[in-house]
Amino acid sequence: MALRDTASRLLGLLVLLHTWGAWADVEVNMEDKVEVFSQDTAQITCMFTSAEGIGGTNIQWFYVSGSKDKQRIYFQDSIVKSVDKGTPFTDRISMNGTGATGAVVLTISNVQLTDEGEFICIIKSLTEGTGEGRTKLRVFAIPDDPTIEGVQTGISVNDLDASKIGSCEVRKGYPKPNITWYKNSTPLRNAPGAVGSGSVLVSSSTTTESSGLYSVISSLRMRVKKEDKNAEFYCEVTYFVPGATMMKETARINVTVYYLPTAVNIWVESPKGKIKEGDTVDLHCTGNGNSPSSVISIKYLKDDISWDTNEKLLENVTRHDSGVYACTSQDMETFDEILGNVTVFVNYLDTAVVIPEESVVVDKGGDLKATCNALSSLQTVTEWSKNGHKVSDGHSLILKNATFDTAGTYSCVVTVVDIEGMETSGELRVHVQGAPEIIKKDSTEIVTSEKAVELSCQARGYPSPTITWTTSDGKVIKSTSETETEEGAQSVVSVKVASNITAYCNASNEHGTDLVTFNIKVKTTLHSTTQATTQATTQATTTTTITTISSAAVVTETANPPKPIVKESNGFIIAIVIIFVLLLAILGSVLYFLYKKGKICGRSGKQDLTKERSSKDNIVVEMKSDNTEEAILLGVNGEKQPPNDQ
Ligand SMILES: *[C@@H]1O[C@H](CO)[C@@H](O)[C@H](O)[C@H]1NC(C)=O
Ligand SMILES: *[C@@H]1O[C@H](CO)[C@@H](O)[C@H](O)[C@H]1NC(C)=O
Ligand SMILES: *[C@@H]1O[C@H](CO)[C@@H](O)[C@H](O)[C@H]1NC(C)=O
Repeated sequence: MALRDTASRLLGLLVLLHTWGAWADVEVNMEDKVEVFSQDTAQITCMFTSAEGIGGTNIQWFYVSGSKDKQRIYFQDSIVKSVDKGTPFTDRISMNGTGATGAVVLTISNVQLTDEGEFICIIKSLTEGTGEGRTKLRVFAIPDDPTIEGVQTGISVNDLDASKIGSCEVRKGYPKPNITWYKNSTPLRNAPGAVGSGSVLVSSSTTTESSGLYSVISSLRMRVKKEDKNAEFYCEVTYFVPGATMMKETARINVTVYYLPTAVNIWVESPKGKIKEGDTVDLHCTGNGNSPSSVISIKYLKDDISWDTNEKLLENVTRHDSGVYACTSQDMETFDEILGNVTVFVNYLDTAVVIPEESVVVDKGGDLKATCNALSSLQTVTEWSKNGHKVSDGHSLILKNATFDTAGTYSCVVTVVDIEGMETSGELRVHVQGAPEIIKKDSTEIVTSEKAVELSCQARGYPSPTITWTTSDGKVIKSTSETETEEGAQSVVSVKVASNITAYCNASNEHGTDLVTFNIKVKTTLHSTTQATTQATTQATTTTTITTISSAAVVTETANPPKPIVKESNGFIIAIVIIFVLLLAILGSVLYFLYKKGKICGRSGKQDLTKERSSKDNIVVEMKSDNTEEAILLGVNGEKQPPNDQ
């Protein structure tokens, strides 16, 4: 409608001009430009006004690009409609509308990049002359996604020239896309700049493909600063599309920036806390730079030794390793050197010194003072102990009114409070000088039925007592073993027991003598020994185990007591014995009869057996043998049952 209005107004103007007698051309109206993506279809409209109508006009389309001459591509009049042969548009154009409405549309299909140019619409009227309009056709192609590539090698801040950071590429765009570099979202402008200020050089090159599409490569060079180690670089591509400007971004890259350290730090990695002699000290050093051209070394200033390493193990350190350790970082290019240091102190604890040394003799009733000290770089505590029990705190040990109980080995331990496991110890043997004291035995009265008895005697005293053994008849008994003990001496003898005997243990040293008496009594048996024996043997037939026990009893008793029986023999006694035997025989038959009837159960001597065995093994024998008693009881009073059998 608007077009119609415009057209009618223009017509009015023409009529006005005509009445004035002025000459007027055909009026043609076209858009300035038409924008279209490559391979799409473009439509270019040509509007005109003519009083004569379509019958008196012809329409021609021309194309012009760059400096070339314009070329006709289409013609139409009231009779003919023709597409010109042999032009780039021959097969791709068509025109709609007859012009009767005052508008025609040229349609170009499959638009090519080379189609870009001006399309001219010329209207010729027989009476009104010629009118011409122009429209620019602009073609667009969206580029591929841009790519970025950063340099892989590190860049040193020492480099005076701008170093390459990376390059970006965008391919197949039309018209030519632009690439802009960004560092942390700030665009980088080309700034060749003076040396010292951060110069930036962006250079790009464009290639045109045979298709007419453009590819652009842009590379960035700049001087890096230390802060750039954290910087993110990327490219932004801007390109035109119909009616707009678009943009795409690349991925982010970063670069390795080498910079010199401004400080070095040296420290003891282990042990943590205080160092003691014997430790392995691990020294570490790092600088706050990362430049491969700087070399770190550790130096012991006192001895002027250095190691080209940033980690040094000092093994088995002594106090002589104490001192200042420095770490230096030197740059091999600039020869700049920076230094840091640490003081290592190796703590020590000397071996404990006990005064008096090793051993000391103190009179019984006397006093003793001893000390224990160890030199250390740290505070220590000292403790004295004896047999695992603490006896005193502090480095001095005071013993008053010594007794034999005071004698023994005292040890002192000196411990460093601050360092666990750092300690030293010493020992002192204390001898208490005095006349021997025999440690009393529970029983010096011994009753035995063994042939020999072992006696033991232990005496305290210093100097170590000499122990001698004698019997009541003045004989000296040779000891079977003599041992020196912590407190004195111990002696063991084996005494043959033929009859009751008294043995003396005499412990003596230069300060005196102590004596103990052992009374050994042979176990005497009843007069009925012989009979008992016989009976026991008879009884023994029940089980084999009992036989063994009984015979042992027999041996013991026949060894000693027959003599007294022989001595006392006379007619009277014989008579009594005979009567006794007869009585026994009767008793025996009764017993046997009862036994047969099952009134008496067979006895089991197993419990007795075990008891017997163990008692036989004892050294100091109190041979109150159950078995012997049992045998006798059975022999005398057959009816009596062992209490444990019921
Ligand atoms: C640098 O880039 C790498 C991989 O591209 C990434 O792992 C690293 O974190 C980045 N460093 C910084 C400082 O951005
Ligand atoms: C690219 O840069 C040129 C020059 O600054 C500018 O004329 C053009 O419009 C830019 N193109 C795009 C797509 O931004
Ligand atoms: C104990 O032995 C010492 C030294 O041999 C001796 O002088 C002393 O008379 C002896 N004492 C006895 C009671 O036998």
